[in-house]
Amino acid sequence: MYKVLVSDPISDTGIQALTDHPDFLVEKQTNLTPDQLKSIIGEYDALIVRSQTTVTAEIIQAADRLKVIARAGVGVDNIDIQAATRKGVIVVNAPNGNTIAATEHTLAMMLSLARQIPHAYISMTEGKWDRKTFKGVELFEKTLGVIGTGRIGTEVAKRAKSFEMNILAYDPYLTEEKAQKLGFTKASLDEIAEQADFITVHTPLTKETKGLIDANYLSKTKPGVRIVNCARGGIIDEAALAEAVKSGHVAGAALDVFEHEPLDNETFRHHPNIIVTPHLGASTAEAQEKVAQSVSEEIIDIFTSQNIQHA
Ligand code: NAD
Ligand code: MLT
Repeated sequence: MYKVLVSDPISDTGIQALTDHPDFLVEKQTNLTPDQLKSIIGEYDALIVRSQTTVTAEIIQAADRLKVIARAGVGVDNIDIQAATRKGVIVVNAPNGNTIAATEHTLAMMLSLARQIPHAYISMTEGKWDRKTFKGVELFEKTLGVIGTGRIGTEVAKRAKSFEMNILAYDPYLTEEKAQKLGFTKASLDEIAEQADFITVHTPLTKETKGLIDANYLSKTKPGVRIVNCARGGIIDEAALAEAVKSGHVAGAALDVFEHEPLDNETFRHHPNIIVTPHLGASTAEAQEKVAQSVSEEIIDIFTSQNIQHA
């Protein structure tokens, strides 16, 4: 019997194949402190996480039976991959299941930002009927800079085209052929800064992308630009962004992800030109079922046939 620990909330329906499988015993224990996780991890053969659990080198070191860490989602930046590799632990993720959920959340954030919908709603809940404060802008014929055109960036840009936005795309792996086929214009980061009315980031968080949008980059952006981050906290330097919004150079920001989660930045919570959501990009019933199903199948495959699809 292989013991599997699920340490973040994930879809019960999605992990049905695993819970029903005679070779696996699945246990759910969420909201564990790092010390609690460290003290029990030695009992398990596999660990399933979303983004709340940080799987540190210390936890991996204590995981004597662990063969697999499965991330029910895309980003594996909450897992110490090097420590896992040193210990011979396989890390798998579910890269495709939440693409549409994160794409649609990005579009929802962009539209909410353009029309100030969350703040207008709050004003209505306060009994007001304020039609002056909330004059918005249109997406029509605006330029959208997409930084990172992988799964989500590409889907965001495709949908933005239906609003008749011009797409400037930056990604080191974007080919001219793909850009042309999708109707995007390949651009440098500086060209995006100079020309974009909206900028959305869709890269992983890596050494290269940490602080990609910093004070220097923001100073080169078009006055009145609006910025969306539904990828990872830290790609945009939060202090620099807060300053740029306060100064009015950046007209607004819509953020789903943060350097520290849960969010501890009061400026972001309360600024009238900033919209925040608590890392909801992948939070749809459909996406949660798909990612849970995907990692369950991978775990079954690994233990029953040593067949690994995503590593
Ligand atoms: P992906 O791997 O398909 O795409 C990432 C793209 O970023 C790739 O095309 C890569 O070439 C590009 N890239 C890497 N370094 C770059 C750089 N320095 N500059 C520009 N581009 C660079 O990933 P994806 O599935 O599209 O996910 C994108 C991001 O969204 C990830 O950070 C992921 O963790 C995050 N995500 C967030 C949520 C959420 O809940 N908010 C949900 C799903 C995914
Ligand atoms: C991801 O990288 O897939 C997202 O962070 C989604 C999540 O699991 O919350």
